[in-house]
Formats: sequence, C-alpha cells, structure tokens
Amino acid sequence: MKSYEKLLLQNKAWAAEKIEEDPNFFKRLSSLQTPEFLWIGCSDSRVPANEITGTEPGEIFVHRNIANMVVHTDLNLLSVLEYAVNVLGVEHIIVCGHYGCGGVKAAMTRHSIGIINKWIRNIKDVYRFHREELENISDEELRTNKLVELNVKEQVMNLAKTSIVQSAWKHHQRPQLHAWVYGLDNGIIIPVLDVLPGAHFDELYEFDNL
Ligand code: CO
Repeated sequence: MKSYEKLLLQNKAWAAEKIEEDPNFFKRLSSLQTPEFLWIGCSDSRVPANEITGTEPGEIFVHRNIANMVVHTDLNLLSVLEYAVNVLGVEHIIVCGHYGCGGVKAAMTRHSIGIINKWIRNIKDVYRFHREELENISDEELRTNKLVELNVKEQVMNLAKTSIVQSAWKHHQRPQLHAWVYGLDNGIIIPVLDVLPGAHFDELYEFDNL
C-alpha cells in the first residue's frame, strides 16, 4: 500500500468510529459551524491545533503559516480573520507558537533560503524590536525560545492593530486575544499574554472612525 493510500484507509476507520460514538456526528457538523475559537498557528506538522487542545471538528477555526505570523498585508490571514470575527463571531483568537520553531531559528541566521526570506523578514523585525533583551541571552536555544515568546506577543499586538479586531471590540466587546507557546518536548502549552477587548497598546494604530 502506498503511504497516501494509508491515509484514506485510516480516514474510513476514523469516520466509522465517530459514527459509532455518535450516529448524528457528521449530520450535525455538516449543517452548522459555530466555533468559539480562531487558531493562528505554525504550519509545523508537530503542532496540530485540535489534537493538542483535545478539541473536536467544529470547535476551532484554523489558520496556519510558517511561524504563526499576523502580517497586515497577508490577504489569506485577513480573510480568515474577517470571516472568523464577523461571520462566525469567535470569542477568542489564539496565536500559538512553539519552542524550537524552524521559522524563528531561520530568522536568527543570515542564510538566504529563497522566497521564504520575505516571510522570515517579518520575524527579523520582531528580533530588531527586542535586540538588546535577546542579545543579553548567551545560550542560543534560550535566545531562540525567548524570540518565540516575543513573537507570539507581537503577533497578538498585530491582531489588535487591525480594523477588523478594533471594530469588533467597539461594537461587540469581543474577541479576547491570547498568545500561547507549545512545548514540542512535553506537549504543554504555556500562556504568555491575554488581551481583553478594548485594550490599548499604541494610539497611533487605533482608528477613531470605526
Ligand atoms: Co514553527
């Protein structure tokens, strides 16, 4: 059997198991999607949103990219964000990074890796904002992990800078924003920052006509 054929076989077994547990499982899911959470995570195969949070299909709306970035010109991210906030009405947006992130590591080197440089450049900017704090850490792994933590916080602040989030805060008092970091070596998620609706970071980014 080819490797991809195994996936299809496992899919059949999974679907059968779900129906055995709850005969209406797919019927219910196919008619309604009401997730409470938007997850913005890393594409890394070791950080699957549903599995590590013990959630089921239908519970989390998911966007993943290299190093869980919120880039304000990324039409894909913005479309997901707008749909999650304005149509699904999510109550929480979680930006979840992970220790040992390859994207973050790449941002700390001077190697060119082609088109990905342009994406990684956004992480280099986060490094630059916190250069002094980071360069006071001599251990390379600890320095990378600190940048992982600083990066999730920065991405949450990037969410707060969008008119989508600011408008929802003003008119609906939601969503809450959360920065988390997942440990590949122990499976535990550490909360780094929680932001309540209406929080203020820098008024330069706060629109006054939403
Ligand atoms: Co990663």
